[in-house]
Amino acid sequence: MEVYLELDTSQASAKEVESILGNTKVVGEASDLTTTGEQEGKNYDFVTSIWQLDETSKRVMMYGADLDADHPGFKDPVYRKRRQLFAEIALNYKYGTPIPRIEYTQQEVETWNVVYGTLKKLYPTHACQEHLNNFGLLEEYCGYRIGNIPQLEDVSKFLKVRSGFSVRPVAGYLSPRDFLSGLAFRVFHCTQYIRHHEDPLYTPEPDCCHELLGHIALLADPTFAEFSHEIGLASIGASDEDVKNLATLYFFTVEFGLSKDSVSGQVRVYGAGLLSSAAELQHALSPAAVIKPFDPIETAKAECVITAYQNQYYYTDALEDVKLKLREYIRTIKKPMEIVYNPYTQSVDIVDAKTVAEKEITFVKNKMDVLSKAVQKLRI
Ligand SMILES: [Fe+2]
Repeated sequence: MEVYLELDTSQASAKEVESILGNTKVVGEASDLTTTGEQEGKNYDFVTSIWQLDETSKRVMMYGADLDADHPGFKDPVYRKRRQLFAEIALNYKYGTPIPRIEYTQQEVETWNVVYGTLKKLYPTHACQEHLNNFGLLEEYCGYRIGNIPQLEDVSKFLKVRSGFSVRPVAGYLSPRDFLSGLAFRVFHCTQYIRHHEDPLYTPEPDCCHELLGHIALLADPTFAEFSHEIGLASIGASDEDVKNLATLYFFTVEFGLSKDSVSGQVRVYGAGLLSSAAELQHALSPAAVIKPFDPIETAKAECVITAYQNQYYYTDALEDVKLKLREYIRTIKKPMEIVYNPYTQSVDIVDAKTVAEKEITFVKNKMDVLSKAVQKLRI
């Protein structure tokens, strides 16, 4: 029996090839093997386990407990003290523990009521089907209603069952790398505080209205969850330039994406930045908005506008399409090693050439054993 096996491995492990294959004659010299991917003993400068998010989630870049001078709550000592409490909860949170429940004040609940009531009226005509379907379930199981701000712990348990995602509290903005790395472990960093009551329909930063009304329903959708997971995995070990491009693609999809609705055939919204902003939600589907087909290479070059409406929005025919297009784009990203998510340990395995070679050799050897036994039986 002849088996042609081409391995991309190190010279050091080439010796093991012969020992593992035993009596099998190996044609070719160790020097014929390409020496690449030596990763032994190297400390990786990126998150490799869900546990490490306890550290990276503390690296808040903006706001956190301190507010900028132009923040609506800057001159409100009561609001600032409240924000301090939320920051402490987020910074002390440990993976695997229940997310502390918040007793929201009457004023905070009233702010929620305005945002929830306003957006809910727009969803039937503006939100995509995936959002509408899951939003109904969130009302049924997670306390989404007027008079109640849902608790992150309840939402996290719901997501775990629906799509394998979970949420953890965060004090404010993380860097794109730290935020995206959470998605690689199916963890969504979620703010728990609410915007200032002075202007319920405006917030200069993500708050629980944005997360709960914009993000959670889509994260409960398996296709969207897979898409989010893949963009997160792509960021692990990627160069700064690639992370920047992935963050832009995240921005124009997860935050501001549009897709054709499977029921009505009309363009609808799945982006959380739009689904949590009544004014821009209406603008994005109005004749005034510029809507272009999603093309990862072109979209990655677009400018992300933070303080005003986007210059353009991008659509795909379905959520499945945005996932497939992004997957193609991710294949073009060059990294020094391959990353594979291990769902059993909630960590990423670094797959270098040596590991691949050893796995392939074991696989082939097992196959050969089976074939050899089958041949012996035939002889009998
Ligand atoms: Fe967001």
